[in-house]
This record gives sequence, structure tokens and C-alpha cells, in this order.
Amino acid sequence: MDIAKNTTSVSLIDPFGRSINYLRLSVTDRCNLRCTYCMAEDMTFLPRQQILSLEELRDVAAAFVELGVEKIRLTGGEPLIRRDIIKLVSSISCLPGLKEVTMTTNGMLLPKMAHSLKDAGLARLNISIDSLQADRFKEITRNGDLAVWHSGICAAKKAGFAKIKLNAVILAGFNDHEVLDLARYAVDNELDISFIEEMPLGAISSHERATTQISSEQIRQQLAQEFSLVNSLETTGGPSRYMQVIDSPTKIGFISPMTNNFCESCNRVRMTAEGRFLLCLGNEHSMDLRDILRRYPGDDGLLKSKILEALQSKPERHHFDPNRTDIVRFMNMTGG
Ligand code: 5AD
Ligand code: SF4
Repeated sequence: MDIAKNTTSVSLIDPFGRSINYLRLSVTDRCNLRCTYCMAEDMTFLPRQQILSLEELRDVAAAFVELGVEKIRLTGGEPLIRRDIIKLVSSISCLPGLKEVTMTTNGMLLPKMAHSLKDAGLARLNISIDSLQADRFKEITRNGDLAVWHSGICAAKKAGFAKIKLNAVILAGFNDHEVLDLARYAVDNELDISFIEEMPLGAISSHERATTQISSEQIRQQLAQEFSLVNSLETTGGPSRYMQVIDSPTKIGFISPMTNNFCESCNRVRMTAEGRFLLCLGNEHSMDLRDILRRYPGDDGLLKSKILEALQSKPERHHFDPNRTDIVRFMNMTGG
């Protein structure tokens, strides 16, 4: 099949006419934290041989880029605990046609790694933070150290990362009274911040998800008490709706998978760490690309035709219900 050769004539269009230009590539299901809304306390992780190798990850990335993907976000689990992650960033960031490689991280390893990531060509960072109080941070992450997180932010700024974005998952009764503090921190440090509604991904033990739901609209109302916000036209091609904080460079994003379906403009697909090509965050439609990679190593034409074939099963939308865990995949398996 020769779709591979002429890259400009190929693009990833799904059955609903949506053009896919964004891949979220999970490089590990493991993490050095255990956030309560993301993982159960006792998790079983994949054996190493089931995880895509560095070469396989690079081959997958190259195939997607040749098919028209312009942006790749490396996720996990925690991408920075993957051995040779810097090497991977270097090998992906120079793929012709790719506009940017970004990463979502919990920040704990940034004090050591921020500079090398920047040098390797990483364009932007999203850093998770759900509480600015040390004891609550420890409680939500089950073992995280807020002081290390702060050093990570400093390291990222020093390394020259511009447009750092914070991600905060807000849970009613846990950290919803920190919304203003989190926004203030972003404004004071000239960072952007997105508030994310909790999704029912994976069966967790720490709380009933139905009791911790809080909508983006409720969060926006809290913010309006202190900040003047105007709708921002800017989009990063993601599901965040942004508002600009007046007289500040900070933008505040709202990611509302529970209350405001954004599937109509979906432009993304995901690869799980074990090489499952996942068509939608909230559905199980997928294709095992690891099998193709291992049975037919080097056959990038076949890989690309399988990607195009799988894309035809991309669902129209997700249907999340906080009372039901239809999706047994945890977020660390999904690729945040
Ligand atoms: N619902 C919403 N967000 C989640 N994340 C992890 N699990 C969930 C969930 N169940 C977030 C992380 C990170 C981002 C990639 O996804 O906090 O910021
Ligand atoms: Fe790790 Fe991110 Fe999940 Fe927290 S939310 S346990 S940091 S993968």
C-alpha cells in the first residue's frame, strides 16, 4: 500500500469527518505517585516486555506523523520515569512534519530532567497540581512531596519552557476550596491553568466518584468572585475552553468531559503503553498495533494502513456517567 509515500495527500479523517492531527502517546503505565482519582492503591502494572520499546514508540510516532499528525503529547502514567525518555523526545521531535512534542507530567522529576527535556526538543509542559497545601498534596497523590513539585516548576522555568500549563482535577469535598488559590498561583507565576472534571475511568477505592463531582461552571463561578475573566478565542486544539484573566498573561481553561461534551470537535487519538491504538477516551474501540509492530517489524506501510483501518471505528462521542465505571481502564492505562 502506498499511502505512505505521499504524505501531503494523506490525512486521518474519521467517519464523522473529523480530522485527526493530535496523538497522545503513553510511554509507561507506571507512576511515582498514586493520585486517588486516577489509581487504586494497589495497582498491577504491565510486565516490561508488554510495553512498547523505544524503537517501537518511535516507529508508531513516525507512522502517525506521516499520516498527518502534527502534535504528539507524551503521557503515562508518568512519562519521566520511563528509562531513556530523553532519547525518545530527541528521536520524535525531529520527525519531519511534526510541529511539536509536548508532555504531561506530575513534575516530580523535573528538578533533574527539565533542562535535558528542553535540549531534546520538548516544546511545552503540562504539569499536574491538585493542591498547594503539603498535607493535602500528600493525601491526594498518596506519597507526593509538594516541595519537590515546587522545585520542578522552578526548574522548568529556568530551562526556558514558555507557556507552562497546570492541570488541576477538582474533587468536591477534597480540593474545591483551593480553586482560587490554584488560580492565584497561576496568575502570580504567569502560568496557564486548566481545571478538569473528574472522569469515571477505572474502579477506585478512595471515594465514590458520584459524590465528588463538581462542574466547570461551578468552578468558573468561584473564580469570578476574584478574577475578571473574558472568553478567549485561543484554542490549543484541545478540549479546553479558555478564558483570559484580564490584565494578566494567564489563561484559565475548563475541561468538561462530564458536563459539556466536546466530542464534536475531537481531533485526537491515543496509544496506550502496550501499543493499543485507542480511538476514544470514553470507549473501548481499539486496535492492537503492538502485534503488527512485532509480527511485521519495519513494515511501515502496513502499520499506516492498519491505523487508517482502525480510524474507521472511531466512535462519535463518549457517554460518561459518574455512577458507573463502564470503562475499567484507569487513566494511567489510557494515557492522560
Ligand atoms: N479524571 C480526570 N482527570 C484525570 N487525570 C487522571 N485521572 C483522571 C480522572 N479519572 C488527570 C491527571 C492529569 C491528566 C493527564 O489527567 O491529573 O492532569
Ligand atoms: Fe500518576 Fe498522573 Fe495518575 Fe497521579 S494522575 S497517579 S501523577 S498518572
